[in-house]
Amino acid sequence: MQQPPSASQSVAERVRSDVPGLPGPGRGRRDLLALVRQTFVGQYTVEGEIGRGGAARVFLAQDRSGRRVALKILRPECLASVATDRFLREIEFTARLKHPHIAELLDSGETDWLVYYVMPFVEGPSLRELISSRRQFTVADTLRIGCELLDALGHAHECGIIHRDVKPENVILSPKLGVVLLDLGIARAIISSITERITRTDVAVGSSAYMSPEQINASQEIDARSDLYAVGCILFECLVGRPPFVRRQEVVVLQLHLTEPAPDVRAFRPDVPPNLAAAIATALAKRPEERCQSAHEMQSILGNCAV
Ligand SMILES: Nc1ncnc2c1ncn2[C@@H]1O[C@H](COP(=O)(O)OP(=O)(O)O)[C@@H](O)[C@H]1O
Ligand SMILES: [Mg+2]
Repeated sequence: MQQPPSASQSVAERVRSDVPGLPGPGRGRRDLLALVRQTFVGQYTVEGEIGRGGAARVFLAQDRSGRRVALKILRPECLASVATDRFLREIEFTARLKHPHIAELLDSGETDWLVYYVMPFVEGPSLRELISSRRQFTVADTLRIGCELLDALGHAHECGIIHRDVKPENVILSPKLGVVLLDLGIARAIISSITERITRTDVAVGSSAYMSPEQINASQEIDARSDLYAVGCILFECLVGRPPFVRRQEVVVLQLHLTEPAPDVRAFRPDVPPNLAAAIATALAKRPEERCQSAHEMQSILGNCAV
């Protein structure tokens, strides 16, 4: 007979020690799929795995009403380092976000073996996929993406929620809804629930290509202006085909964010209007005080950029 899990064991340790055929190195995909299917019987019908990120594995599922959802399971490696009760309490804050350009939190919880959160499945390519296939966007498309993204972030910031992980993978371009921003509040929930036995740098939260200097330094409280820096990186990437700082070694990229002035977008795309280039340069200022002070302010500046 199985022993009940002890309170001091992390969920990851329980998963590893107690579940036969458990996802281990090299065996992950099918075993976890079977476990997830079985765990959510009667609640979610799990169709298959659709993606993997730094913190979660993502499954396409249907809820009881037939709505398609993205069921996200925190990675066991991540579970070993975060206090799950705290994580679940933290992500509950994001449930108050209701906005046409934000994928809302529909459900979250913990089973014996898994910590999960659920968002609507958003149909459409991610901005990452579009940049990879198209490489460069027109000025008009870039402005539209920027304005919708800032509209979503403005709402989140007004609700006191900073994204902290704005990157092309977290932006879906839905044919029906336009920009839909994913994973709001997840990075913060992970950071604030990391247990003390490891340092914060042991769990990767945020992507180096979009990380503001103050996020890299962790020298001061992160605020809305950190997300605006990431939007500046994304706008630059939409127009140029790559973010402002790219190097093979991540540590060098982080150093460039801290010390190197961002390149002028017009050096790569002379067709970009000067006021849009200036808005991107402002977003990429090293000091938060030199950027726009709110998402709505940046949105209205983009709204006035000539095409
Ligand atoms: N709500 C969603 N709707 C559609 N696709 C999603 C959704 N959430 C995640 N995905 C897909 O799953 C992938 C992995 O997601 P995630 O675990 O958040 O990692 P990351 O954002 O680092 O790529 C994403 O890149 C995206 O393509
Ligand atoms: Mg994501």
